[in-house]
Amino acid sequence: MKFEITTKKINTIKADCEFVLIIEKNLDHKWITNKAEFKELGFESKAEEVCFLPHAKKVYGVVKDLDRDEIRIIISSMLKAIKKTTYKTIKIGSYVKNCPVTNIKAIVEGAILGSYSFDKYKSKKESSIKREFIISLDEYEDKEIKLEDAKKALHSAMVIANATNFTKDIVNTPPDDMTPKKLAKVAKNLAKEYDEIECFVGDEKFLKKEKMGAFLAVARASEHEARFIHLSYKPKDAKDRFVFVGKGLTYDSGGLSLKPSDYMVSMKSDKSGACAALGIIKGAVELNLKSEIHVIIGACENMIGGNSYKPDDILKAKDGTTIEVQNTDAEGRLVLADCLCYAIELKPDYLVDLATLTGACVVALGEYSIGVMGHNKELIDSLMNSSSRSGELCAHLPFNRHLKKLLKSDVADICNISSSRYGGAITAALFLDKFIKDEYKDRWLHIDIAGPAFVNKEWGYNQAGASGAGVRMALYWLKDHEYKKERN
Ligand code: BES
Ligand code: ZN
Ligand code: ZN
Repeated sequence: MKFEITTKKINTIKADCEFVLIIEKNLDHKWITNKAEFKELGFESKAEEVCFLPHAKKVYGVVKDLDRDEIRIIISSMLKAIKKTTYKTIKIGSYVKNCPVTNIKAIVEGAILGSYSFDKYKSKKESSIKREFIISLDEYEDKEIKLEDAKKALHSAMVIANATNFTKDIVNTPPDDMTPKKLAKVAKNLAKEYDEIECFVGDEKFLKKEKMGAFLAVARASEHEARFIHLSYKPKDAKDRFVFVGKGLTYDSGGLSLKPSDYMVSMKSDKSGACAALGIIKGAVELNLKSEIHVIIGACENMIGGNSYKPDDILKAKDGTTIEVQNTDAEGRLVLADCLCYAIELKPDYLVDLATLTGACVVALGEYSIGVMGHNKELIDSLMNSSSRSGELCAHLPFNRHLKKLLKSDVADICNISSSRYGGAITAALFLDKFIKDEYKDRWLHIDIAGPAFVNKEWGYNQAGASGAGVRMALYWLKDHEYKKERN
């Protein structure tokens, strides 16, 4: 998809069709020229409604207000309305209300995210016309400055949305085609594509050398060898170091604590945290961010076999902590435990792990929201603030001392599951907390994306399947962090 920004008046621009936004029930705008037909068509101009008038070559879309996600959702629906047409160019005016660049970003993100499809495995592909959006700054006065700003906004929105779609592609790829080795190949390809990115891949020999006993146990029964992946982006004079750790279970069968078949379907998505981290570093480089960024991925499969790790086993993590296994389906936290120990050795200023960690998080928040956990309320708030502007829904799940005690083991330092069935998203995070050294507690955030990372039905501008959860949230957050730093 291509985008152009222009100061030309909307009615002087040549295009195959025009998109017009209507703010709920408000039909007074100069771009709304088909009012008379709306009644006849039963178009009530209520939020989320779309009206395509082929003879006028116009598509009307209704938003409640000019909130970013209102715009993203309607743009995606308007594109769906013209999906089968041959229209190549679409013109749209950006409105003055709100910040103009905000609106432009939302239009671009809605268009790129909403028109994603995963048809690599379909013999018959849907025709994909390369469309071009012409965004007019018709309503703006101070055009010189606005055009400059608008172009920057366009670039950043394109990078962020494309990084999200890049993540969706990896997550949607079936498990036999996205094994740990293949995931490492994707990481290596990033390093090939961008000179600024370096990539290290460790095999099981490396895991043994690093004493990653928990990670190794999870990976043991698979035919596909595990991979440890470390990507780094170190711009000159970087002030802060961010480390993103991703859960990369290329398949989670549950292991000997086998999942029921219904729950096993879609577990190719258990690598979503890792794929999000790859999208984040790709986006960060393209945005030319000034912070140092590392991505650590623990990639393996949780399978069954004669050599599976078992409930009752006691594992030893990289930092020497012993872990009693009571359920082999609580495997993500074991892989992450070792990866977090490694990540801490990089001395991060900010340490963030992304994982499809618990079904309990989905039960608590529903499928569409991300769970955010940590010790530092200020840090949590800053991430949640950026997230809400990025369009990703999230909620804070608070720790407490009572939940922490539920992880006690009689025979080891900690047990891999809680003794209670309640509060599972938080107890999983508290398990990870055991591996975060004291001086890093306030720098750490745990992000459970088990709900939105992969949803079976389309929602908003997201397709059925992977949504790239975590990518937009993190990139908005990194950008906001830089903006705040520059102002201080
Ligand atoms: N990968 C799953 C969590 C998950 C569930 C992700 C649903 C996406 C959708 C994780 O490894 C798991 O199985 N967790 C268990 C933990 C339990 C055994 C304590 C769960 O949530 O049931
Ligand atoms: Zn599991
Ligand atoms: Zn899992």
